[in-house]
Amino acid sequence: MGDDKKTIFSGMQPSGFITLGNYLGALKNWTLLQDEYNCLYCIVDLHAITVRQDPAALRKQSRDLLMQYIAAGLDPEKNIIYYQSHVSGHAELGWILNCFTYMGELSRMTQFKEKSQKHAENINAGLFTYPVLMAADILLYQTDLVPVGDDQRQHLEMARDIAIRFNNIYGDVFKVPEAYIGKAGARIMALQDPEKKMSKSDENKNNTILLLDEPNVIMNKIKRSVTDSGNEIVYRDDKPGIKNLMNIYSAVTGKTNDAISEEFANSGYGDFKVAVGEAVVAELEPLQQKFKELSKDKKYIDQIIKDNTAKANYLASKTLSKVQKKVGFPPKVR
Ligand code: TRP
Repeated sequence: MGDDKKTIFSGMQPSGFITLGNYLGALKNWTLLQDEYNCLYCIVDLHAITVRQDPAALRKQSRDLLMQYIAAGLDPEKNIIYYQSHVSGHAELGWILNCFTYMGELSRMTQFKEKSQKHAENINAGLFTYPVLMAADILLYQTDLVPVGDDQRQHLEMARDIAIRFNNIYGDVFKVPEAYIGKAGARIMALQDPEKKMSKSDENKNNTILLLDEPNVIMNKIKRSVTDSGNEIVYRDDKPGIKNLMNIYSAVTGKTNDAISEEFANSGYGDFKVAVGEAVVAELEPLQQKFKELSKDKKYIDQIIKDNTAKANYLASKTLSKVQKKVGFPPKVR
């Protein structure tokens, strides 16, 4: 990365299978950045184990996520696509940054409060220091920009605070990252409950469309999605279900809300749902095809993992050695 392109870092947890929401809200937009920026897209398996995971499932979801990154159009030659657990610098820097983060600030994080309510039987220390590891992810690569959704803004803010705090003590060690404000990713809501975000950890399978769902499954889930009792296809806050379907349709086809209203001026919800279903199926078809091909090519995927891990490790160790030196660890003897 010895050029003057800016560095972008982002990641997704391999907890469950990714949804249309993850795709339209993040992944699809990531593919637009690969020429202009140096991008790292991590599969954050260290973060995933802050809630209990089944080992075999975690392994499969991690590999599937990596292949879905590529199938969605992230070129593994241009972007560094890798597993967090393969680059030990994340955990090492995470530890150091733990010593520069206060209990008070961690206990104010909204996501910690939410998750400790949801997983009351397992409020582990990792869940508490989750934002510190995320700061380490970002700071390890001297990241300029982080594309994040609203729910991750507070985490990015903390990464910035930690970087500034550390730099104030030791000099300019970390670049202070900023949020990437690009073409806004669509915020896709749960199909049965359009007031809450579509989430891959949702227990109600009818709330989510998975990237790898079969066409008939996609169609059925959209047909069954919750709408209001009216029949107009208009973009209004009191019609969250229709609004959500319009957001999906718009993200997939590029049409504006007005154009969509006009297109369906003489149709009811049923026709509109079929159109949305067909558009989503058409959008995901090439991705699913590519995924199938990649799944058969173990050697190719393994090589990508090997090459990209090496690239990430190289960059990570540059920052890590600097940090280790600054805090006063003895130099390594070779
Ligand atoms: N916490 C993020 C999420 O759940 C995932 C994540 C981990 C991440 N490390 C990151 C995102 C660094 C951006 C940058 O969505």
